[in-house]
Amino acid sequence: MWSILLYYLLAVVHAASFDSRGLPKGVTIVPLFMDVQAFPDGPMLQLNGTLKEMHKEILEINPNYLADFNLTVPNRTTLAPREDSYSWIGCHIICGQTYGTYPKIALGDDITYINWHPGRPHLQPGPNVCSRVACEYGASIFVCNDTPVIRILEGWMSVENGFWTIWRACIGDSEVNLSGGQAFHPTGWNVIIYGPGGYIPSLQVC
Ligand SMILES: *[C@@H]1O[C@H](CO)[C@@H](O)[C@H](O)[C@H]1NC(C)=O
Ligand SMILES: *[C@@H]1O[C@H](CO)[C@@H](O)[C@H](O)[C@H]1NC(C)=O
Ligand SMILES: *[C@@H]1O[C@H](CO)[C@@H](O)[C@H](O)[C@H]1NC(C)=O
Ligand SMILES: *[C@@H]1O[C@H](CO)[C@@H](O)[C@H](O)[C@H]1NC(C)=O
Repeated sequence: MWSILLYYLLAVVHAASFDSRGLPKGVTIVPLFMDVQAFPDGPMLQLNGTLKEMHKEILEINPNYLADFNLTVPNRTTLAPREDSYSWIGCHIICGQTYGTYPKIALGDDITYINWHPGRPHLQPGPNVCSRVACEYGASIFVCNDTPVIRILEGWMSVENGFWTIWRACIGDSEVNLSGGQAFHPTGWNVIIYGPGGYIPSLQVC
């Protein structure tokens, strides 16, 4: 009971308290790492950067990467929230202007990379340690570790599911740009959608 109360108390403090970058207070930004193979029988590599940068790096290591892994980059027009993202239902979500405004135009670029990509997000020990997954049109998607140990998520789909959870709660199906937000997965990591118009002028360029 007390731990539940404490959780909500902390969540409220979290929601109300942002630093000068506009990120939740105490957040450290570190590079994003991914464990991934560049060749079907190749070693597991550890890359860093945004997902788009790491994808480019994989293609430099193996120009035949997509064909070797039988991968098809999905069409932007077929983007839609995935059913299994409903597994986040009931999680704690914060929406609001402090997270800036997520431009709809960024959706295709961001999700086109996240929702099909092989490899596993490798989060540095937290708590409050965040890494930028995507960075288009000045809007960022961060994945954050709330636990003091390295977290290796199941895949990029886990991050995408967090994205759609925020999308449903904070952005919805509106045709205009709406507020970003943050969703906390019950297992101790979270996703932030952060757009231009938030408090972070220095983070609006990537
Ligand atoms: C991150 O990746 C760059 C190359 O893209 C590499 O030079 C650097 O050593 C990597 N950093 C870490 C901490 O692995
Ligand atoms: C890609 O498809 C080919 C032909 O169907 C198959 O032989 C190969 O094992 C597949 N590669 C991977 C990495 O799944
Ligand atoms: C993507 O669109 C092209 C042309 O519109 C179509 O030929 C192709 O089959 C589509 N691919 C997927 C995966 O939907
Ligand atoms: C939506 O965001 C884009 C990119 O930041 C901006 O150019 C556009 O004016 C915004 N649209 C509205 C209706 O605010």
